[in-house]
Amino acid sequence: MTTLIAFESSADETSVAIVKDGKTVLSNAVATQINSHQRFGGIVPEVASRHHLEWITKTLDIALDEAGIPVSEIDAVAVTYGPGLVGSLLVGLMGAKTFALAHDLPIVPVNHLAGHIAAANFNQPIEYPALALMVSGGHTELVLMEKQNSFEILGETYDDAAGESYDKVGRLMNLNYPAGKAIDELAAQGEVTIKFPQAMAHEAGYDFSFSGLKSAVINQVHNAEQREEEIDQKDLAASFQAAVIKALIDRTDRALSDFPVKSFVLAGGVAANSGLRAALGDLLQKFPETNFIPVPKQYTGDNAAMIGAAGYWNYEDGVFADLDLNTRPGLDF
Ligand code: KG4
Ligand code: ZN
Repeated sequence: MTTLIAFESSADETSVAIVKDGKTVLSNAVATQINSHQRFGGIVPEVASRHHLEWITKTLDIALDEAGIPVSEIDAVAVTYGPGLVGSLLVGLMGAKTFALAHDLPIVPVNHLAGHIAAANFNQPIEYPALALMVSGGHTELVLMEKQNSFEILGETYDDAAGESYDKVGRLMNLNYPAGKAIDELAAQGEVTIKFPQAMAHEAGYDFSFSGLKSAVINQVHNAEQREEEIDQKDLAASFQAAVIKALIDRTDRALSDFPVKSFVLAGGVAANSGLRAALGDLLQKFPETNFIPVPKQYTGDNAAMIGAAGYWNYEDGVFADLDLNTRPGLDF
């Protein structure tokens, strides 16, 4: 039995969790700062760092308290060292190092993206080979995993990430940041009335592009304004969401056809999207050998439990870091 304490602070959530064997969450304290960033329409790095400083020890106390185990039962300290905002990452890293030093525990460095994927193990154990669709505010990637803790990027976005396009379109629709959830809810009540073009529809490969879609939505709204026409927000949301889902489904279908896998994982903040979950569920009917494992909704957004899950992979592989571990803001797989 291996128990990890995990620290996550890469963007606008401060989180500390305690996870057993990479799959059982004993506690997962998450402090979100979304309210502080909303009036700016996005994360303000300086504001984020200050919030992390304020919350890191509080989330640590809550995580220890809720897990109800003595510190002596903890085997290692997992921590996100990238990708993310440097000032934000530093706070979690300092917290993790201090805890490790105080309790004489090894440090396990964790890639935030691996964390998003590993959270699927809170649903069902991932079997390999596996394919993961990682869709968040900063990343949109199709990742092939031949075995546990091995990652090959098959495709990624050329420009905006899927979540980023939700947030930018949300801004245009006067919705609060981050807008993914609100657009998802509006879309469920609307009809697809506008057919937006799909970028790279005829290109081979597994890459994505979402900036053209964003521009198409902006044009649609501006044109309507000029003609003094009302665009139904629900229909606009449904039409935009249908276009995002179509692009994601199209590339996923291609990847699953080319790489038969035992598990298909849906991960990242956008994995909470109900339309996307349903559409992928339908697509997977076509691949009966592949088990669909979406990350449970409460773990799709940034949290430390997922860092504990991916940290367990590194712990098993003997991947440890010293106290001189630094942040890697631009880290990829
Ligand atoms: O993974 P995450 O919490 O943070 C990053 O590492 O980026 O992802 C945040 C992103 C935001 O862009 C947010 O708008 C989007 O996930 N998101 C959603 C939904 N819930 C969150 N996008 C679409 N539908 C949702 N239900
Ligand atoms: Zn994330």
